[in-house]
Amino acid sequence: MATSANSQDFSLTGLRALVTGGGSGIGKAIADAMKHAGARVVVCDVNDSTKPNYVCDVSKSSDVTAMFAAIERDLGGLDILVNNVGVPGPTTTSACE
Ligand SMILES: NC(=O)c1ccc[n+]([C@@H]2O[C@H](COP(=O)([O-])OP(=O)(O)OC[C@H]3O[C@@H](n4cnc5c(N)ncnc54)[C@H](O)[C@@H]3O)[C@@H](O)[C@H]2O)c1
Repeated sequence: MATSANSQDFSLTGLRALVTGGGSGIGKAIADAMKHAGARVVVCDVNDSTKPNYVCDVSKSSDVTAMFAAIERDLGGLDILVNNVGVPGPTTTSACE
């Protein structure tokens, strides 16, 4: 059975969304699609040259805290968070014998 998706199938009208790493790549594509569906979308990125709404390194807790304070001030909160950025690192804190 064939299926299709368009803006009538999927509405985010009135919702506030943040996409991390939304300055380029997959994150930008997600942000653009969510805007197309009617959301008020802001993006953060560590790379200032991508012209994000918020410059933030999501691996730094101080950056993240400051960004969410700014978002609270600017938007009054969020309805959707897309954690697009993957930060490589340890996947466990316990060791197996
Ligand atoms: N493309 C793939 O095939 C693939 C596969 C598996 C996982 N991923 C993960 O999906 C995510 C998006 O992939 P992509 O191909 O769009 O990557 P990309 O490198 O093209 O874009 C990622 C964006 O995130 C920003 N970014 C990177 N580190 C950041 C940080 N610490 N804080 C804030 N912003 C940061 C970059 O400046 C860039 O604008 C990445 O985290 C990647 O690890 C991608």
